[in-house]
Amino acid sequence: MSSPEPQTETANVPRHVAIIMDGNGRWAAARGLPRVAGHRKGADAVRATVRAARELGIPYLTLFAFSSENWRRPKDEVMDLMELLKLYLRREIADLHRNGVRVRFIGDRHGLSDDICALMDRAAETTIGDTDLTLIIALNYGGQGEIVRAARQIAEDAAAGKLDPSTIDEACFAQRLDNPDVPAPDLLIRTSGEQRLSNFLLWQCAYSELVFDDTLWPDFGHAELQRAIDLFGERERRFGGRSG
Ligand code: FPP
Repeated sequence: MSSPEPQTETANVPRHVAIIMDGNGRWAAARGLPRVAGHRKGADAVRATVRAARELGIPYLTLFAFSSENWRRPKDEVMDLMELLKLYLRREIADLHRNGVRVRFIGDRHGLSDDICALMDRAAETTIGDTDLTLIIALNYGGQGEIVRAARQIAEDAAAGKLDPSTIDEACFAQRLDNPDVPAPDLLIRTSGEQRLSNFLLWQCAYSELVFDDTLWPDFGHAELQRAIDLFGERERRFGGRSG
């Protein structure tokens, strides 16, 4: 009998982890605090989780920061979230760059303010050469919207005679998604005990392993990410095939 493969620290570490950060409001309510206090603490959890992802050797981390449906929240809360995102992009970029973190974005820029778009461009440009971890921030993002944008591009190319409709396949479609060069998430985590996708990465999560964690997002960090990765390591991924 051959001896088992030596276990390395990165054995079974997913290449791409995507997180639906949920529970900021409940974290604040449990303490009698305004919702914005939960979002602020949520931004601290973002810092801790990015650090943990680097330490654990995860190459891609996508965080759902603001959905295309979050505009339905009260104006004040939307403003608080946008201010927090701006603060994060202003304050953290130098640090992320120093730590080898490349920052990218997915979502519909249409509808985002000019100042936030400028900060997004600066973050992406400053960190373009960083290779330790790619942090993808989903901003004004919805999976259905992303699929519709891709379909529109394909229709435009076909109408212009640049694309033969009979050649459209999954690979051709995926090329029109927001970040075509990023591998699909191996592991999707949602915090706070809710068990929904909420329009997140609908195309890309076709074969992702799902982990629902009861932790409220502001309490999420290294230990919780490690726990999700341990669960991921126990899963058998078959991608529609069979194991034996
Ligand atoms: C869900 O909690 C969380 C959000 C809608 C926003 C996530 C934003 C952050 C973590 C802060 C800033 C982000 C970055 C990248 C710096 P909820 O308000 O729906 O919580 P609830 O379900 O308990 O009400």
